[in-house]
Amino acid sequence: VIFPVAQSSPMSEVRLRDARPADVPALDRLLTPAGGGEFNDFGERRKRSVAEPVASGTISSPDRGLLVVELVPERRVIGMVTWNPVMHGPNPESRCWNVGIALLPEDRGRGWGGPAQLAVARHLFANTDANRVEASADVDNAREHRALEKAGFAREGVLRGAQFRGGRWRDLVLFSLLRTDPAAEP
Ligand SMILES: CC(C)(COP(=O)(O)OP(=O)(O)OC[C@H]1O[C@@H](n2cnc3c(N)ncnc32)[C@H](O)[C@@H]1OP(=O)(O)O)[C@@H](O)C(=O)NCCC(=O)NCCS
Repeated sequence: VIFPVAQSSPMSEVRLRDARPADVPALDRLLTPAGGGEFNDFGERRKRSVAEPVASGTISSPDRGLLVVELVPERRVIGMVTWNPVMHGPNPESRCWNVGIALLPEDRGRGWGGPAQLAVARHLFANTDANRVEASADVDNAREHRALEKAGFAREGVLRGAQFRGGRWRDLVLFSLLRTDPAAEP
């Protein structure tokens, strides 16, 4: 399954697709601190290979998911996007998605992170009933803040002490895109 991205950099276009066994080395690299970056480093939790879930087709489920970010026309894997449910009330209508991203170190700073996150948001609006997609980023992750803002996500505020990483509690900036926001239009 391929999800094209409307927005593109001048040089290459970014798109999302399901993970295949050939992607496992790149995906496993993204799960290491060196490959995924300090803001995705949650210690031991992230060290298990994705080989088995990719092979068995269980890396995505109705409740959470992972897609590979690839450049076209090169068809080179540059990263991955993920999503998890967040409940803002007990009823199914109040479930939104929190999306995450990791680009390989050599593919950061080229303007591809925002379009990839917009693409996963549009994919979730197209394939689920969610009204809201959110992304939370460490207060120190200025590059991610800028990438989300450029992609059309709205900055909402700071979640104090929300994430435990690297031995201490971290504040996160919360961003969102609503189904009705202009940027969400395919
Ligand atoms: C965060 C990430 C997705 C951003 O994607 P990207 O393609 O690298 O981002 P961009 O190239 O579009 O850069 C975004 C903006 O940040 C700016 N920027 C870069 N470093 C910055 C810094 N230290 N401070 C402020 N702004 C910075 C860039 O100038 C750019 O803005 P501009 O286009 O207006 O000049 C990507 O860098 C990444 O995967 N990082 C590691 C994993 C990570 O942090 N994931 C998010 C976890 S919540």
